[in-house]
Amino acid sequence: MSEVQAVRHPIVPRHNLDFGLDGDIPRFWFDNDPFKSRFFDAMSTLFPEGEKFFIACVRDFRDQITDPELKQQVADFTRQEGQHGMVHTRFNNRLQAQGIRVDQILERQRALMFGYFRKYCSAQFTLAQTAAAEHMTAIMAHGFFEDPQLQKADPRVRAMYAWHAVEEIEHKAVAFDVMQKVARVGYGLRVLAMLQVSLSFPLHVFLIMRRMFKVDGFSFTQRLGLWAKGFWWLYKPGGLYAPVIGHYLAYFKPGFHPWQHGQMQANNRWLETFERTGDAIAAGNAMYPLA
Ligand SMILES: [Fe+2]
Ligand SMILES: [Fe+2]
Repeated sequence: MSEVQAVRHPIVPRHNLDFGLDGDIPRFWFDNDPFKSRFFDAMSTLFPEGEKFFIACVRDFRDQITDPELKQQVADFTRQEGQHGMVHTRFNNRLQAQGIRVDQILERQRALMFGYFRKYCSAQFTLAQTAAAEHMTAIMAHGFFEDPQLQKADPRVRAMYAWHAVEEIEHKAVAFDVMQKVARVGYGLRVLAMLQVSLSFPLHVFLIMRRMFKVDGFSFTQRLGLWAKGFWWLYKPGGLYAPVIGHYLAYFKPGFHPWQHGQMQANNRWLETFERTGDAIAAGNAMYPLA
């Protein structure tokens, strides 16, 4: 990942995009591979409640923001995250129809985020959790653009993730700036929250995938095979996570800022195509010129 300062784009909330999510999208929409598909599906189930949590934790400090630019960024961040939640809910309804108890996942997540974290932890800590989670989504968004494997994904689901990725990058510094400039969260708390999110986010994703594989009807031995192959896909040298490790670790540098990192070429291809055509699927396809 580039250490060069990325060019910051304005935060543009986009509404009513058509991803064709009502179409006959295959169950294993990513490379006909259960692990890859369910990995992204599990994240999708976490987004709607997660994004409500992020909005609430940033808005805790809204009245203390004096910088009009940051105030506007918080408003645009809120609108973008609100839209993400709505579109992922539409996608998650597909998963519910497949027999996955998305309703139970949401209920448990609500209990953890709103019934526990927001009830018992300080607003500084939950904002630091939000900034950490936003860093995780931003590095995945940057990595997503650069991964040619996505050529093998269904263009409709990929378009949804491409749009989400573009907007995650546009607002990637908002929670961080509120945390640093307004809430004045110290380095220790920032790092502590990142360590907690780094453990709990993948753990939740894997627990949800575990339930999904059972609903999909895979036997115990088949599931073992899926996990072995899937973990290799994620963690092998040159795997999905390898290109973003440096970007992830940069968060632990005391002088880190989100706009110090990340390539924007593919992001610009998406923006250029979307502005020209207004077509979210064409814009998603433009990220992968060989597709
Ligand atoms: Fe989002
Ligand atoms: Fe976000």
